Amino acid sequence: MKKLYLLGLATALACSPALAADQATAGSSKDAFITDLLGRMTLDEKIGQLRLISIGPEMTHEQIAKEIAAGHIGGTFNSVTRPENRPMQDAAMNSRLKIPMFFAYDVIHGHRTIFPIGLGLASSWDMDAIGLSARTAAREAAADSLDMTFGPMVDISRDPRWGRSSEGFGEDTYLVSRIAKVMVQGYQGKDVSAPDSIMAAVKHFALYGGVEGGRDYNTVDMSPNRMYQDYLPPYRAALDAGAGGVMVALNSINGVPATSNTWLMQDLLRRDWGFKGLTVSDHGAILELVKHGVARDGREAAKLAIHAGIDLSMNDMVYGAELPGLVKSGEVPEAEIDNAVREVLSAKYDMGLFADPYRRLGKAAEDPADTNAESRLHREESRSVARRSMVLLKNAGNTLPLKKAGTIAVIGPLADAPIDMMGSWSAAGQPTQSVTLLRGIREAVGNQAQVVYAKGANVTNDRNSVAFLNRIIFDRTEVEIDPRPAQEMIDEALKAAANADVIVAAVGESRGMSHESASRTTLEIPPPQRALLTALRATGKPLVLVLMNGRPLSLVRENEEADAMLETWFSGTEGGHAIADLLFGDYNPSGKLPVTFPRSVGQVPMYYSHLTIGRPFTPGKAGNYTSQYFDEDTSPLFPFGYGLSYTTFDVSDVRLSADRIKRGDTLKASVTVRNSGKRDGETVVQLYLHDVTASMARPIKELKNFQKVFLKAGERKEVTFTLSEDDLKFYNIKLEYAAEPGDFDVQIGLDSQDVKQARFELL
Ligand code: NOJ
Repeated sequence: MKKLYLLGLATALACSPALAADQATAGSSKDAFITDLLGRMTLDEKIGQLRLISIGPEMTHEQIAKEIAAGHIGGTFNSVTRPENRPMQDAAMNSRLKIPMFFAYDVIHGHRTIFPIGLGLASSWDMDAIGLSARTAAREAAADSLDMTFGPMVDISRDPRWGRSSEGFGEDTYLVSRIAKVMVQGYQGKDVSAPDSIMAAVKHFALYGGVEGGRDYNTVDMSPNRMYQDYLPPYRAALDAGAGGVMVALNSINGVPATSNTWLMQDLLRRDWGFKGLTVSDHGAILELVKHGVARDGREAAKLAIHAGIDLSMNDMVYGAELPGLVKSGEVPEAEIDNAVREVLSAKYDMGLFADPYRRLGKAAEDPADTNAESRLHREESRSVARRSMVLLKNAGNTLPLKKAGTIAVIGPLADAPIDMMGSWSAAGQPTQSVTLLRGIREAVGNQAQVVYAKGANVTNDRNSVAFLNRIIFDRTEVEIDPRPAQEMIDEALKAAANADVIVAAVGESRGMSHESASRTTLEIPPPQRALLTALRATGKPLVLVLMNGRPLSLVRENEEADAMLETWFSGTEGGHAIADLLFGDYNPSGKLPVTFPRSVGQVPMYYSHLTIGRPFTPGKAGNYTSQYFDEDTSPLFPFGYGLSYTTFDVSDVRLSADRIKRGDTLKASVTVRNSGKRDGETVVQLYLHDVTASMARPIKELKNFQKVFLKAGERKEVTFTLSEDDLKFYNIKLEYAAEPGDFDVQIGLDSQDVKQARFELL
């Protein structure tokens, strides 16, 4: 089928002496420049610009160069070095109109230097740190000749079964929207045309995180209110921050695939939101309209997609094969093609490619001799962001921080797993360059303490899972299974731990378990690791769990067995150093959960901002006919916003500047936060609002603001938030965004449950 679609384009037509690049320098305005160029393009050349080709085994480099020279390809993705990309740009410069190519890649949480995965970045609640990760990634990607990333990924996810939870920034609309903005600003810099900036294509538009059952690519069925209120704002925030592109989701929305959804792409995105940039289909999504059951064949799929407003077709060949015929038969007006081409050309213009097609490719003589050279990495930035991304979940009896003394047993299948440190979507990161926990601990203690190591268990022994992880997800061996009997491995670990003063156990998931297509029906740590933990607990030695995972796990037993638990997610190239910084107290943990940790998968979906209901359950009260699980505690194990520190913080009662406000007024809400412990530290002061009575049931609370504050031991600080009418608005049943008069509760605290409250009224 693919081959068939490859053959669809006719060859390029007559030559024109005018060159696109000449025009760019002629100083004409962007619109005039593009209108002129469009006017000189043949239909085949126009359709060529709508094709985004994956560099892979399907097409040889020679074939691709030939097609580019014929004006049949607009851009490519998945080739990440200058020597790979330069010949393609050369080929474009040999095409009739010399329209430059652009090169894209999934630069999601770092490029060569890998930063923590999305959930980890979000756990920092630190916009400077998150922005730094994106800026650094952009610099590295641009230095490798990339012009565009398919990111940020801002899909709200409230279902940890979904493997792509790892990629996003969690469950909360406000937090994810704030992050969307700084990620776009980081990627695009001050000027997206700068040689060290890359264009951001926010994804996956829209609602991809709402897939039913947490099963990837599944349908999304959602009320308009929930969409507008909870799931759409992060995409909008990315666009408001100037994202040049949008990647369209693979899922359907209330029965209509996003890729053919004219309401989504035309009414909402372009008309209501005024988006003028580029839209890109997801991989093969146009042809998938046939499997969705909304198109008879590729021809109809192409027609639906171009009509809905998909400018670039990613990797499937249907646009090239079908659009010429569709235009000729009059089924697709050429104006629709022109609109799409205009957007592609406009994005290329914005990326500065008409002015200089080699802007990010540079000169061959200046190509790095070794693309993976240490000198090209940004280790310090990665370590500093990673330290902020970790969440201390438990620390009984101040088990942490550890002393750099005695004997430390480092145990577990993830203790020395360089590839897993990087997490999924690790761009051009090299596992050989990532610092494992074992190495981090060894380097931190030097010769002050003895470090012993044993693997202790495989991540999983389930053959099907291993086959899935090694073949289906990555098509190579990622998860090495130690063939020894499980008990033998546990015995080895116990032997290693026998003389230790403390056990540090690195457990969780291998990175492929939290990836695209990698949905799970359980949130537990897999059985061989569980058995290892039970054996380690039985030693009676202090047990510190270093968790590595890409989704909230169900940690009820671990929480009972371990003395301390540090959630490190997949922490990136410098993860091992960063974790050691926290374990030994060289950095005081400050991360907070951007997602709720349920007790068990049966509680899913579980998120803090659920709507009020008629029969709520009151914790501690045996509930007759109230909303609860009778076989499980109804509360989460760890709430949204939660995270400990090596010091403690107190929050005073909430002070409001008024207890009644009129529309248009602002209100100040303040607390005094005190570091009541013995160490300096940082915490995140969080403000939630609850609209007490409204025309619709409203969330029991919603995050509306936060501040990360650093306090020396014993220090106090007044933290003030300003609330305006905008903070009180919501989408009512008519989808009008408005605040309704009545009472509002302001809650301020250190997580979504540990809050102080005061009430005011909107008149
Ligand atoms: C499919 C994924 O859904 C998307 O996020 C990614 O950008 C593309 N593949 C390209 O790799």
